[in-house]
Amino acid sequence: MQKPAPLGFGLGLRPVYYRDILESKPPVDWFEVISENFMVDGGNPLATLERIRADYPIVLHGVSMSIASTAPLDFAYLTALKSLADRFEPAFVSDHLCWTGVHGVNLHDLLPVPYTAEALDHVVERIGQVQDFLGRRIAIENVSSYVTFAESEMDEWTFVKELAERADCWLLLDVNNVFVSGFNHDFEPREFIDSIDVGRVVQFHLAGHADHGTHKIDTHDEPVSPEVWALFAEAWRRFGPVSVMIERDDKFPPFAELLAELDQARRIAIDVSTANIGAAA
Ligand SMILES: [Fe+2]
Repeated sequence: MQKPAPLGFGLGLRPVYYRDILESKPPVDWFEVISENFMVDGGNPLATLERIRADYPIVLHGVSMSIASTAPLDFAYLTALKSLADRFEPAFVSDHLCWTGVHGVNLHDLLPVPYTAEALDHVVERIGQVQDFLGRRIAIENVSSYVTFAESEMDEWTFVKELAERADCWLLLDVNNVFVSGFNHDFEPREFIDSIDVGRVVQFHLAGHADHGTHKIDTHDEPVSPEVWALFAEAWRRFGPVSVMIERDDKFPPFAELLAELDQARRIAIDVSTANIGAAA
């Protein structure tokens, strides 16, 4: 099973930065594109994406597949996603291990699932349907969570590992989400990372979070925290090289600050890779 080639170090494509990107062609290796923002018939967003795609590889990252919901799969949504993927040829397509609604109500949130055998069967089945429909393997991302279910029968990482194996999908490992959920649910983030199969992980997310003392929230409105950089180094040691990107969705800094943060990711990756080679020699 050949993983997609690593794309390098990327950023999320956000409208606030369109001008910087178009005018300066910055040293970003690739962009992650929120699929739903481009599921339209025409207009400026698609025209902008055409221009950016001419210069950069992209990944399509969705927030509405609702792969874990008990509501039927939305084939109108999947048809729109497929045509977007056919048009822009992303390196891969990703979405989250979550549900976003049920009974026709969209809650606009990435809600966690109980880690049960029944839920595992259900999500495996649905990923299979989506992959068959799209004609490609998708990547599934671990989410941050703030509750656990009394019904859960296994750890999140056991669920994720089994899911990837049985659904034969890729994984998008959100390093910040592992850290946030680890804090909120009192597990050791390293245990999560060390449990996941190396051959399944094709991408990392890095992001900032809000610290509320008793709990942390995945806000994407801060620089990556020192603890998440440290966990990123551990993740790179195990899974690297894979595609990496930094998510920023609020309190947008000047674009140069994100480029500097991306350089920090590059430096850590180089340091870890160099140390790995040294250890192997
Ligand atoms: Fe993420």
